[in-house]
Amino acid sequence: MAVEAAAPAKVNLTLHVTGRRADGYHLLDSLVVFADAADRVTVEPAEAWSLTVSGPMAASVPGGDDNLVLRAARMTEGPPARISLDKRLPVAAGIGGGSADAAAVLTALHRLDGRAIPDDVVTLGADVPVCLHGRPTRMSGIGETQAEVPDLPGCALVLVNPGVPVPTPAVFAALTRRENPPMPEDLPHWRDAETFARWLSTQRNDLEDVARMEAPAVGVALSRLQATDGCLLSRMSGSGATCFGLYADSVQANAAAAELAALHPDWWIVAALPLRAPG
Ligand code: C5P
Repeated sequence: MAVEAAAPAKVNLTLHVTGRRADGYHLLDSLVVFADAADRVTVEPAEAWSLTVSGPMAASVPGGDDNLVLRAARMTEGPPARISLDKRLPVAAGIGGGSADAAAVLTALHRLDGRAIPDDVVTLGADVPVCLHGRPTRMSGIGETQAEVPDLPGCALVLVNPGVPVPTPAVFAALTRRENPPMPEDLPHWRDAETFARWLSTQRNDLEDVARMEAPAVGVALSRLQATDGCLLSRMSGSGATCFGLYADSVQANAAAAELAALHPDWWIVAALPLRAPG
């Protein structure tokens, strides 16, 4: 019997870098949502662990035992499985990547035979715990702490990746300000997409300026998004290079995605809705 789990794109609507731990990892305060654009992971019982990767982004995924999906699967205490990864989201892109896939394989193995999800998954990747959570979350620490957030208003996203991989360590290493203010302790109730965008615009992604310098295509993606009809806010997710635009509804998001795809046929562009619960 094969069991599937989705690995939805993680989008940091805000990402404040608030400090640094002694081991060099950065402390974050981030409002994270997941979008209904996803990789898919399938597991089925087998004699030995194996991983096959297919899908439009398969070529950019490292295979073999170093793959985060296999490392996550082997951390569980349970029999081996044949794992298939349908890779649809761009890699090294600020939307979860290996961490999202690792979380999905842990979820799929749990669904397969009830095996426990290990406690120390943050050691696989700082975004694994939030990806296991899979719903709108306020993430802090280096990624290990999750807190509930007020209900999101109806809204839609366009995700744009200009095709430049941005390695996360390089972006963090290039930061000059590492102690920035967190988000307010209490998050407001957002009445509608406009109120939400207005509040988000008072918050930040502290990695955006550095990523724009490392990869100027980030700045181009942001200005293209901002110029589309109905774009309430444009910002980079994670350490880039994927950027998002926020829209009032999916009609506007679909129109913006189509307009951008006509301008940049080589970019990865999707209109997506934020997920309210794990996929
Ligand atoms: O944990 P992950 O593999 O996503 O992180 C990649 C790199 O990004 C880390 O080795 C570290 O250099 C940097 N990072 C950080 N602080 C975080 C997350 C990642 O400095 N909270």
